[in-house]
Amino acid sequence: MSKREYRDQMIKDAGDLIDFIDDCPSRFHVVNKIASLLELTDVEELDIKRNWQLEKGGTYFLRVNDSALVAFYVGTGDVANEGFKIVGAHTDSPAIRIKPNPVMKVEDHYAKFNTELYGGPIVHTWFDRPLGFAGRITLKDKTPTGIKSELVEIKDKKVIIPNLAIHMNREVNKQFSPDKQKELTPLAANLNESLQAINFEELLAEYSGDKKEDIIDYEVFLHDYSPGEIIGLDNEMISSSQLDDLAMVHAALKAFIYQNEQKEEPAKESRVVVFFDNEEIGSATMQGANSPMLSNILERITLALGKGREGFLRSLQNSFMISADMAHALHPNKSDVHDPTNHPFINNGPVIKISSNFRYTSDSESSAIFERLCRLSDIPVQRFVNHSNERGGSTIGPILTSKTGIKAVDIGNPMLAMHSIRELAGVDDHYYMIEALKNFFS
Ligand code: CO
Repeated sequence: MSKREYRDQMIKDAGDLIDFIDDCPSRFHVVNKIASLLELTDVEELDIKRNWQLEKGGTYFLRVNDSALVAFYVGTGDVANEGFKIVGAHTDSPAIRIKPNPVMKVEDHYAKFNTELYGGPIVHTWFDRPLGFAGRITLKDKTPTGIKSELVEIKDKKVIIPNLAIHMNREVNKQFSPDKQKELTPLAANLNESLQAINFEELLAEYSGDKKEDIIDYEVFLHDYSPGEIIGLDNEMISSSQLDDLAMVHAALKAFIYQNEQKEEPAKESRVVVFFDNEEIGSATMQGANSPMLSNILERITLALGKGREGFLRSLQNSFMISADMAHALHPNKSDVHDPTNHPFINNGPVIKISSNFRYTSDSESSAIFERLCRLSDIPVQRFVNHSNERGGSTIGPILTSKTGIKAVDIGNPMLAMHSIRELAGVDDHYYMIEALKNFFS
């Protein structure tokens, strides 16, 4: 590739990521979007409740709770000997969820919605910004006790959480610590004659095309309404919501689909991409990493291929996992909170995350394996270690490796403003990550 073509490809990958995120206003939409991209390729959807007929060389996917998804290619070799190449990421981002019975009125004039925080957002970034609603609704089906769920997005209706004027809050620039119950309720409407009663279920019914009386429950979240953008003097940065962790979901999916389409020499090893929900709240749900979801699916794949329990346990020892979650870049105005010698920069390449207490799962061997995958395509690699006085975050990596016994590395692309409604990452890094993960799956 010429320098020009290389640059064009980077901008194209970043544009694809922005479009992907814009189509994903909630984690349920993320899974639906991944499924729709997989369906464009030669992939069969499996039902987690049914028996699977798998063929070597085949590609499959399944959804868990509409908010997590696993896709896999069945290698042509003996799965016990060849194992699985796995990339894991997460579909959820910190957000604000609408509570049941949400409508609240102020002086019979304002209507607002009651909410609850999900995970750890940087709350002030959600103020003074048009917010949309999206999620899923659960409805009656035709049987007396049955249920079904659907996606819902209330398009073209936005709400806002207004700040208090500085004249009534002189301390606002010193410390911003809003009351989570009182101050995170978005203003939905100014009630007038034509808009006297607001009914949230009615709104959901209108936008889903269902009858209000059929809607039993919902999981609806507020989201950033403005589309992502490529910014910076040289178009080198991506400003968007949900980069943690949809950038890694997108990179893993692109690499997975790309390698599945190279059919001349089908790979002997099986490939897996796994996208969990609920990483932001500790992963302890049936669709989170701290569940039997991944190990059960891997075991079922080996059993469907005619291998017994011993074959499954051997396959784990021959597997490798990349836990892909975004990493912290050096902040231009706050360099003192970072480690003095290991502080990644945006657009300097993927980051290997290291913690002596294994809050990240990387060790010298798994780090070296990932570094070699990058170097194969001259992709630069950086290392992140927390400042020793900071506890830092954690990932799905240590949870998965301790549950499955698979050797794993924690990596991610460098970014700023993690958990802001508007996060910042690098155009070049997204390209680098896709290429590194293609090398892993090749
Ligand atoms: Co994350």
